[in-house]
Amino acid sequence: MAIILAIETSCDDTSAAVVKDGKVLSNIVSTQMMHIEYGGVVPEVASRAHLQKIVPVVNEAILASGLDKNNIEAVAFTKGPGLLGSLLVGVSFAKAYALAKNIPLIEVNHLAAHVLAHFAQPPYPTFPFLCLTVSGGHTQIVQVNNYLEMNILGQTLDDAAGEAFDKAGKMMGLPYPAGPLIDQLAASGNPIFNFPQPKLADLNYSFSGIKTSILYFLKKEKEKNPGFVEENLNDMCASIQETIVRTLLYQLEKAAHLTGIKEIAIAGGVSANRRLRTLLQEKAKANHWNAYVPDIALCTDNAGMIGIVAHYKYEKGEFSNQDVSPSARFPLS
Ligand code: KG4
Ligand code: ZN
Repeated sequence: MAIILAIETSCDDTSAAVVKDGKVLSNIVSTQMMHIEYGGVVPEVASRAHLQKIVPVVNEAILASGLDKNNIEAVAFTKGPGLLGSLLVGVSFAKAYALAKNIPLIEVNHLAAHVLAHFAQPPYPTFPFLCLTVSGGHTQIVQVNNYLEMNILGQTLDDAAGEAFDKAGKMMGLPYPAGPLIDQLAASGNPIFNFPQPKLADLNYSFSGIKTSILYFLKKEKEKNPGFVEENLNDMCASIQETIVRTLLYQLEKAAHLTGIKEIAIAGGVSANRRLRTLLQEKAKANHWNAYVPDIALCTDNAGMIGIVAHYKYEKGEFSNQDVSPSARFPLS
């Protein structure tokens, strides 16, 4: 039982939250918009923006929680995985805050936090459950045995699902991040173009083949008709989305069959995708699963989910020392 200030700065969102006894009281996210003009996140620009935003975002989170700075009993932060320069801002802020207030410091794995975002509000999955975590940097199927006990059953060998959306969008001239835009444009299109769906024998994923086949398909079609993308944008988006979403669900369904687990959750930025949500519900009906889909605000990066993991670590007395440092490739287990 504690009041925890949580900080998340792993990529391009500066976020702070106040979590009391595992409940998210406030969750402020400031998204860095300047990366749009570069067509992707520029690490150096991201860390400088975190430096400017961190103090106002923390102040806003404390104010919105209705509590006072002096009520904070522990401070949590994302140790990794993520961009080193971005993580460094959150880690340094948290260490300084904990030292100044003489309160415990709690390190959190960003991917564990995406999974535990499901405990921000009911209905809660029951253990053990499977979680497909799909974001801009990660794609993995995790078996969640308890709040702090997770095993990776499969993960991407190359690009992440969100990266596949973003890179495919870039090839069609869409701004970064293209995932939400592809979702929107696909709603008025049909998946009439076929791209090969990778079906790996194990539970891992690979998205680089899809990316290459889209690249060559566009090259061929544009040679025949330079206006191909503009004339077929909605159908192209629907086709790309269908391929990525079906690839994700193919392995998830296999994992459910192999483990016999029927509690199935999705998490991370790509879990906001409407086609993924709809097809998951269809699969849930056919397989008698209980499917769990978080609120959109809890799918994308936010400090609330960091605070939830920190709550369970606090209960077990799992604290970090002042010599803790960020870890760009911090594994889940
Ligand atoms: O979890 P997240 O906010 O940040 C990371 O940890 O990466 O995920 C961001 C990713 C981006 O690649 C973005 O294009 C994708 O999630 N994304 C979507 C949608 N909303 C966000 N992809 C497809 N459909 C969406 N609706
Ligand atoms: Zn994330």
